[in-house]
Amino acid sequence: MALRLILDKAIHTGDLTRDEVVALLSLEGKDVQRLFSAADQVRKQYCGEGVHLRGLIEFSNICSRDCNYCGLRRGNRRIRRYRMTPQEIIDVSADVVRKGLQTIVLQSGEDPWYTAERMVEIIQGIKSQADCAVTLCIGERSYADYLAMKEAGADRYLLRHETSNPELYHRLHPDMRLEDRVRCLRDLKDIGFQVGAGNMVRLPGQTIEDLANDALFIRDLEADMIGIGPFIPHPNTPLSDKSGGTLEMTLKMIAVVRIVTRNAHIPATTAVGSIDPFGRKKALMAGANVVMPNYTPIEYRVNYEIYPNKRCLTEDPSESRAWIEAMGRVVAEGKGHSLKRSAQ
Ligand code: 5AD
Repeated sequence: MALRLILDKAIHTGDLTRDEVVALLSLEGKDVQRLFSAADQVRKQYCGEGVHLRGLIEFSNICSRDCNYCGLRRGNRRIRRYRMTPQEIIDVSADVVRKGLQTIVLQSGEDPWYTAERMVEIIQGIKSQADCAVTLCIGERSYADYLAMKEAGADRYLLRHETSNPELYHRLHPDMRLEDRVRCLRDLKDIGFQVGAGNMVRLPGQTIEDLANDALFIRDLEADMIGIGPFIPHPNTPLSDKSGGTLEMTLKMIAVVRIVTRNAHIPATTAVGSIDPFGRKKALMAGANVVMPNYTPIEYRVNYEIYPNKRCLTEDPSESRAWIEAMGRVVAEGKGHSLKRSAQ
């Protein structure tokens, strides 16, 4: 099918076949810009001009997993490990809300010290001090744990599926299985969390067809939020000598996911900002509508090294606001709940 027809369909229905998604992800040269414009048009129609700010707190870099790509993997001995106390997390969250952000994202490695009971204490502590939404990004847990955290007041949960190719998934995470990941995502939805999935781009051995399947997996899951970033090789991991994802491929993936999901919240991720100084801005022009400034206290932040040269922006909301407004967009008001259901 001619590109013009695929792009028309992309803009008007988003109901693309797998072959059409592959065709879009394979675009090169100046056609790529036409894909980005189509995604930008869909973003404008379904999400408007508002960019949602989410305040990120990376509260522990201790991890019981050994993912082959990640600098926090338990096998990496060359990293100074830290844990923030529940009170520290609550205090930093209150500070972030005072700065005007209305969503706190709590992210960590899979650290068993933070039992469901401790997470409940943290969530309740945050919610009793500040009027904000809480998003968790702490990995695979039992149904009972997820339920306890939801009942304590957590609103959203990010758990990237990383790749929808089961063999590739298993190669990257020898002690994990894709079906467990998917079960967690279904549990989270069942419990009533707004759920985020997502994948990395250009993982070693990943094909364009795999990426197309990721886009369709995300669409079928009806994810509320989708995090997409380039794979960036980390020197202290088994994948240190592999090549990383390109900006263009990552932006094409963001654009395609915008087109097939219509109104999902899609961040311009730190990873995309780390491979290009204008990466996040370019992502916002290719379908993204969320920015996540990092509020991890600086003494910890330097040790949250998922991948190298992570841009550790000491960005205050006024700075985010400035560059967002300079591109003709606005910072969205409110908590920025999912657009896929009425705010909870
Ligand atoms: N490069 C890019 N992204 C990475 N992540 C982990 N390691 C890397 C890496 N080397 C991503 C994963 C994870 C998220 C928190 O960070 O997708 O879900």
